[in-house]
Amino acid sequence: MMMSPRPTNSAPPNVSWSLRYIEESDHDALLRLWASCEDLQPRLMAHRSNLCRYLERNPECSFLAEGPSKQLLGCIFAGHDGIRGSLNHLAVHPQWRRRGIARALVRRALEALTAAEIAMVTLWIYDRNQDGTAFWHALGFEQWQQCSTWSLALNTSI
Ligand SMILES: CC(C)(COP(=O)(O)OP(=O)(O)OC[C@H]1O[C@@H](n2cnc3c(N)ncnc32)[C@H](O)[C@@H]1OP(=O)(O)O)[C@@H](O)C(=O)NCCC(=O)NCCS
Repeated sequence: MMMSPRPTNSAPPNVSWSLRYIEESDHDALLRLWASCEDLQPRLMAHRSNLCRYLERNPECSFLAEGPSKQLLGCIFAGHDGIRGSLNHLAVHPQWRRRGIARALVRRALEALTAAEIAMVTLWIYDRNQDGTAFWHALGFEQWQQCSTWSLALNTSI
């Protein structure tokens, strides 16, 4: 996969945007945002009930960015197990990239996890995702080479 040329956005450069907590009612707009992004498959989040469970378990940790007419521009989900945190489903609409929206979303998510006394975060990303890899590198995240991710489906109906 090729990296997107810079800039990838086509929205006017000085249009303002703001961050707020994600709510259950954002589900449809989130699905549209993820569908507009390459290489994002938040399969479990396709179910509104899973979104609700996530937000209930991890209150005030997940954020979205919205534009002047309240349109959804980007999102990040953050959660933790009491010790270690995880960042999930980060996405910025293709027309709004390279304006610092993802950086701001990550900053707010990390502040929320820090407030919950979480000392470290992890995330998953496809090796082929060059834009995402460049982004996490730019923010100082480190790739672990010494282990791989393993999984087992416990319930294929959710
Ligand atoms: C990765 C993604 C979230 C970045 O969103 P963004 O709002 O454009 O990122 P930012 O503007 O905050 O970028 C911050 C810095 O990251 C780096 N960066 C971001 N995108 C980059 C790219 N495509 N190529 C190289 N560096 C990049 C740059 O250093 C950038 O700072 P700069 O613009 O001042 O040079 C966005 O490209 C996206 O939604 N991609 C598809 C979904 C995805 O891959 N999600 C991550 C899965 S873990």
